[in-house]
Amino acid sequence: MDCLVAPSLPIVPDRSSNLRLGIMASGSGSNFAAVAEAIATGQLPAKIAVLIYNNPHIKALEYAAQYQIPAVFHDHRGVERGALDRAIVQTMQEYQVNCVVMAGWMRVVTPVLIDAFPDRIINIHPSLLPSFPGIKAIEQALAAKVKISGCTVHLVRPVVDSGPILIQAAVPVLPDDTVETLHARIQIQEHRILPAALKLL
Ligand code: GRF
Repeated sequence: MDCLVAPSLPIVPDRSSNLRLGIMASGSGSNFAAVAEAIATGQLPAKIAVLIYNNPHIKALEYAAQYQIPAVFHDHRGVERGALDRAIVQTMQEYQVNCVVMAGWMRVVTPVLIDAFPDRIINIHPSLLPSFPGIKAIEQALAAKVKISGCTVHLVRPVVDSGPILIQAAVPVLPDDTVETLHARIQIQEHRILPAALKLL
């Protein structure tokens, strides 16, 4: 199935390549790698200025080393959300980031971060929003026995997974799907639509 771009979005094409990305990741980092790969292969005119991570064992660190991207650790444990976001904003500013990508960032962000980058923070979510927002989106889709699911790239707003949708891609849900098999199918599409969404910016 193909991906769809929200037709009503006021997109002003910017042909310059001054997109400086700050990518936030907590997990396996496959979306981070997909963006890095799209840049390395010339499909996405941008630069990843910094990777911010909150899990010292994250696989994205290996990709960051491979692509020679600076990585900065922000430990969320015992830190109030606003304080964490203030520290993240400071790092983003140090690296002159002008677009923030939440690529599997497993923390709720606050207006401290959102207001520092108005309409310049995007998130990727493993469902066709507005269905199944929040955590365990894939489990929610399986429990609802939907026949089609997918992924969404959207602008970040204070209410989790609620912002304007930039791109979605759909995948079938098969009768014998598990969380792992459906997630794997969705991730193939995530790796397409995240770089594509960044191109729109
Ligand atoms: C993705 O499925 C994304 O939709 C969700 O977290 C997962 C991150 O995957 N928000 P990865 O770490 O990029 O592999």
